[in-house]
Amino acid sequence: MRFDVLTLFPEMFPGYLGQSLLKLAIERGLVEVNLINIRDFSTDKHKSVDDRPFGGGPGMVIRVEPTVECVEAVQQQGDKPGRVVLLTPQGRRLTQPIVEELAGCERLLLLCGRYEGFDERVRDILEPDTISIGDYVLNGGEVGAMVVIDSVIRLVPGVLGDEESAKQDSFSGPNRHLEFAQYTRPREYRGHQVPEILLSGNHQEIAAWREVESLRRTRERQDDTNRKGN
Ligand code: ADE
Repeated sequence: MRFDVLTLFPEMFPGYLGQSLLKLAIERGLVEVNLINIRDFSTDKHKSVDDRPFGGGPGMVIRVEPTVECVEAVQQQGDKPGRVVLLTPQGRRLTQPIVEELAGCERLLLLCGRYEGFDERVRDILEPDTISIGDYVLNGGEVGAMVVIDSVIRLVPGVLGDEESAKQDSFSGPNRHLEFAQYTRPREYRGHQVPEILLSGNHQEIAAWREVESLRRTRERQDDTNRKGN
């Protein structure tokens, strides 16, 4: 799976890309992440990428020309143009079914906004998929792009090592329940015991307990969400 991240701040990524599962996935050739600075596609002498909004108002808007030219140039690298995903609070809210949908793409171009966002013609011309990671405003799309990469790579075959692991994740499986509680040693800590059934060795009973737990947690969260009116 290939990700191309188009951003004004590529230096935000190496720390994240160099850790844990993602680092291994890249080393093993399962995932490729390319960082592209949109500023490299600015043609004026100051390499400017933003300008004041027409009509006035605070902040700056990212210009259409370097952005569209950056996306088009990157699409031409490689044999498939890939799906362009614009990270914006105005996009479709990211959920596990959307993560699954994105994981079905061989290539994603993640376009990260900053400031007051992109000139609207970026959307008119490129017609990107738009994704929001939640109903709050970030300083830019970069953290959102990391969230997309982080959630999608779990579904890339071979990345987790044990394929059962992703199937057991919260929001996965046919009912999209939350994951059951997990425990490891010690059996007792400050008076808190590991549930006896998990020590029983009876796999059938353990599976049944986990199913009940998972359902209970899911209901509990639904009730909590409903009570708070979200
Ligand atoms: N950029 C700014 N806020 C965002 C959000 N909530 N999701 C994705 N990209 C964003």
